[in-house]
Amino acid sequence: MHAALSRFPRFALAHLPTPLSEMKRLRAALASEGVDVPRLFIKRDDCTGLAGGGNKTRKLEFLIGEALSQGADTIVTTGALQSNHARQAAAAAIAAGLRPVLVLLDMVPYRGHAYRRSGNLLLDDIFGADVRVVPQGTSPAGFIKTVIDEIAEAGGKAFFVPTGGSNVIGSLGYLGAYIEIADALDALGIAKARIVHGSSSGGTQAGLVAGAALRGKGPVVQGVNVYRGDHAAMKADILKLARATAEALNAPAPAESDVILEEGFLGEGYGLPTKAMVEAVELVARTEGILLDPVYTGKAMAGFLASIRAGMYPPEEALVFLHTGGMPGLFAYEEEFSSGVVA
Ligand SMILES: Cc1ncc(COP(=O)(O)O)c(C=O)c1O
Repeated sequence: MHAALSRFPRFALAHLPTPLSEMKRLRAALASEGVDVPRLFIKRDDCTGLAGGGNKTRKLEFLIGEALSQGADTIVTTGALQSNHARQAAAAAIAAGLRPVLVLLDMVPYRGHAYRRSGNLLLDDIFGADVRVVPQGTSPAGFIKTVIDEIAEAGGKAFFVPTGGSNVIGSLGYLGAYIEIADALDALGIAKARIVHGSSSGGTQAGLVAGAALRGKGPVVQGVNVYRGDHAAMKADILKLARATAEALNAPAPAESDVILEEGFLGEGYGLPTKAMVEAVELVARTEGILLDPVYTGKAMAGFLASIRAGMYPPEEALVFLHTGGMPGLFAYEEEFSSGVVA
């Protein structure tokens, strides 16, 4: 862990460092299409170890650390019905002896049967999380406040974790991840590299960008927008959070140009499947034996592959796809993938 992070409360949850592996078979598959492919790596943050893994574990180490230091007994967080963040927050709370309350939003107009029963929702149930779905027409912020007030009235103390764990405290986890990746690339003798990942609530990208500011040199960071139609607003929010995170560590402020966010891979909206996502998930599964997810890493990989095929990345840069997890989401979207082999 970087010394600058040691002054923040932290509750150990993640198996670190996660592996950084080369994707030689995916590279060969792309090369067989006649594409000129740089060296391809994958950073396995799907292997952070907590409840199926994923990027939220690194954020939750700091968020749960802070909750414990404030004497909280309950974690309240929020997300979509199939939130990976909520699933990991539930597990993290339990591991720390806290009670998980998940305020979930029925915000994705995907109406597959499993979406409303399986995947992350099933795991939330298995964790015994107190799941509250925001009633249609109710303001999510108002509903969350009511839940927190109710906990206080019953004598409890809630610690609220925002959507995706994306605030300065959560982003510290990805500042640490940036240092981990950059150090690993240095050890491999790789001087120029780019990290590509799916960006949503922005804490992952903000933390990585702040990490680059703190370290002063290292890989370029490139997000792929899998979340918001308002691309410019999303970029501005990521920059704001990256600057606040850098400031918390007395690191130089990231420049506007440090927030690179690719668009064009969201499809019709957050959580709505695209053909390119299905193709990307299947290609990586069938070449590398690695499972992505339908909402984040599948769409991010679709963007990554499109850019490689279009020769958009500088050929001298090694490419690192940051696998941020989300595999349980595959079960919520079974209709998109299932082959129907067994009647
Ligand atoms: C699997 C997965 N990947 C990527 C992200 C995006 O991370 P962030 O919200 O920090 O932008 C999420 C967020 O929920 C996620 O669950």
